[in-house]
Parts: sequence; structure tokens; C-alpha cells
Amino acid sequence: MMRRIVTTSFVLLGLSIALGHADVLSNRAVKPRAESPPQAVLFCSPSRRFLISYGPFNQHFNPTNATPPIFQVFNEAFLDILGSNASIAEIASNATFAFAHEAPVYIPETDEVFFASDEGVPLGHSDLNHNNMVFKLSLANAERALQESGGEAVNVPITHVPLDDNVQMTNGGTGPFRGNIVLVNTGRGPRPPNVVLVNPQPPNNVTVLLNNYYGRQFNSLNDVKVLPGTDILFFTDVQYGFISGLRDAPLMENHVYRLDPDTGAVRVVATDLDKPNGLAFTADGRTVYVSDSGAAGGSVTEPTTIYVFDVDPTTHAFTNRRVLAYVDAGIADGLQVDTDGNVYSACSDGVHVFAPDGTLLGKLFIDMISANLVFAPPNRVVMLAGTKVFLAKIAAKGVV
Ligand SMILES: *[C@@H]1O[C@H](CO)[C@@H](O)[C@H](O)[C@H]1NC(C)=O
Ligand SMILES: *[C@@H]1O[C@H](CO)[C@@H](O)[C@H](O)[C@H]1NC(C)=O
Ligand SMILES: *[C@@H]1O[C@H](CO)[C@@H](O)[C@H](O)[C@H]1NC(C)=O
Repeated sequence: MMRRIVTTSFVLLGLSIALGHADVLSNRAVKPRAESPPQAVLFCSPSRRFLISYGPFNQHFNPTNATPPIFQVFNEAFLDILGSNASIAEIASNATFAFAHEAPVYIPETDEVFFASDEGVPLGHSDLNHNNMVFKLSLANAERALQESGGEAVNVPITHVPLDDNVQMTNGGTGPFRGNIVLVNTGRGPRPPNVVLVNPQPPNNVTVLLNNYYGRQFNSLNDVKVLPGTDILFFTDVQYGFISGLRDAPLMENHVYRLDPDTGAVRVVATDLDKPNGLAFTADGRTVYVSDSGAAGGSVTEPTTIYVFDVDPTTHAFTNRRVLAYVDAGIADGLQVDTDGNVYSACSDGVHVFAPDGTLLGKLFIDMISANLVFAPPNRVVMLAGTKVFLAKIAAKGVV
């Protein structure tokens, strides 16, 4: 009797599992997993990654000594993000000049990426007395050159974009926003940090949107994004200008701010961060990621952390803070999100890609610091690495 009941329920259970499975199959397009692209190195078995010692803070994981740039795959889901045709290559370099540090902005009309050189470091050729510079690079040129080189490193020319004196030490950018580039600037000496619009076309004229918080200068603005579905700008303010000797002592706590460019209304949306740095919204505008690079310019016991917040639909305050990830190489800097909600963070060995649950899926591994990245539709990622720029072609599409 006992045995029969058990057997019957086992059969019923088996039947429902079979039906459930059939259901899933009929409701979802189940595609076979993308094949591993040629430049991928797989570490999907846990022992290959977690039992290898690779040291503290800034050390890089590359146990096979594969020559970067490569894709490091820690989870098979990363293969679908890459697609079987994925590629990654160096497209510009200058060993004596950190020309490509921050503020990557892609302009579709001209297929160009704008970016700024490094600030307050010798390799950036900028300091208290010398402004940094904004450049642009043609991705069409880069693609042509890569076709000729068969995917080997190329070095396409970059073009200086002279901007008016209100633009001092550019550190963040986004766009296009109403046809313009949005830049946020560190400021230099007494010249204030600010949020500006830049015409992407010559004469690249500039309009200042904001340069103070009710009379107080910001500390040094770091990065900026537009909340999807709105024309509202969000930017981080942090004391890196002071830390790198470019600015006087901070006058305010480090914050994330919200700016309505039509009314000029500005307010704080996130506080209690150590050194808020990069930020990125999901496509639906309901979630925002903020990197806290406290350890950079601080100590190794400060954050190297990516936080996730809900965006309050009424006030736009960042609420309900959680940890997405504590990164394994240097700090988390610039952030982007793809249309499936995966989070891309520039770190000290390249770009780390996290699932929304915090799983590290893989890396665009360049073995050098990337401060920021930008998606360039339809399928490209541009990574800034100071003295080099890299171009990856992957299957995932960015929120732009
Ligand atoms: C990969 O590239 C090949 C050759 O260019 C092309 O035929 C194929 O459609 C591509 N596959 C995907 C998934 O894009
Ligand atoms: C590389 O940077 C140096 C400044 O350090 C500059 O003089 C030189 O023109 C740059 N080279 C190229 C090929 O742009
Ligand atoms: C640039 O100048 C043009 C012509 O005066 C003006 O229409 C445009 O708004 C300006 N753009 C910026 C970003 O200042």
C-alpha cells in the first residue's frame, strides 16, 4: 500500500515536471548557448577561479598568461553576452600620453567617440596650471583599420577638440542629450567644477548649465547620466580634485545630485557614500548603480564597491541601497548597463560584467586600468585605458 502510493505520487510528480518543462519550452525561445569566441578564455569551473591565489587589491587574475586583450569567461551566461563572433582589440595608443582617461561619449551621426585626457598626473600632461584636453576618435576609421590588420592592434589618429575656458579638467560625460554632449568637469584652482553642454559639431560651442550649489562650489564633478525616459541629469561630486592637488579643500560632503536643466533646480539624491564615482541607470529608469571608489585616494579598507539603489519614481531620490559587488581588482569606476540589465564596470584590469544578482559573469580583460567605457551601437564597447583605447564587439546592447 505504502509502496503503491509512493510510486503513484512519484509518477504524478514526474508528469508535472515533464509538463512544466514542456511549458517552459513552448513559452520561451530557448536558444542554444552561443559558442565561445576565439579570444575567450574559460574559467567556468569554480576551482579554476576561486582556488587560484591572485593577491590583494590591484593584482590581476590571468593564470593562463593569455595575451590581453581577451575575454575572461567565469559563467557560461557571459558567452551569450559576447556572442560567438565577439572580438576585442586595441585601436589607439600613445605610450607618452594618457590621452583617453574619462568622459567617453558616442555620437551616432558621425560614428565618433569623444573623451578626455587624464588629470593631475604627469602622464596626462595636466596639472594645476595646465588644463586637460578633449579628443575625438572615428570608430569608422578604427573598423576599417581593424579589417586591414585582421583584428591585430591598430593606432588610428585622434583629433583635439578645443573647448572654451569654462571647461576645466573634464572628468565625465554622457549623451547625446538633446543633440549635445553633456560634460562634467573637476574645475581647476579657483575655476569652478560645472555641468556643461557641448555642441558635438564644430565650433564645439559650450553652454554652462550649473557651476555651484546655492553659492558653494562643488568639490569636483566626476560622472553624469540622464535618467532614461526623462531629461533630468544626475551627477556625482567627490573630492578627487582636492586629492590630486587641482582644487582647494572640499566645501561639501560627497553626493550624487539631480539637475533639471530646464529649471536649474538641483538637489541631492544620494548621500552617505565615501567617494561616489560612476553611475548608470537600467533602461526602465527604476534602478541605478553607483560605484564607490573610496579606496582610491583613501585606504584599502575603504569601498571598492558597486551599490544598487531604487530610483524613487516621484522624488528621484536613490533609495534602498544594496551591494551589487565588491570588485576583485582595484576600484570600480565608470559604469554602464546593457538592455538585459547586466552591469559593466571599468576596473583596474579592464571591464567587469555582472549579472543583476551580483554574479561576476566575465571580464573584458586588458590587464591595465580602464577608467570608463561607453556603448557604441549597434554592438560595440569602447574602453578607455589612459594611454590606450580598446574596441570590443559583443552581442549585448547598451542602454544609451
Ligand atoms: C558571425 O560572422 C559570420 C561571418 O561574418 C556571419 O556569417 C554570422 O552571421 C555571424 N554570426 C552572428 C551570430 O552574428
Ligand atoms: C603622443 O603624445 C605626445 C605627448 O606626450 C605627443 O607629442 C605626440 O604627438 C603623440 N603622438 C601621437 C602619434 O599622437
Ligand atoms: C551653439 O551655438 C548655436 C548657434 O548659436 C546654438 O544654437 C546652440 O544652442 C549652441 N550649442 C551649445 C551647446 O552651446
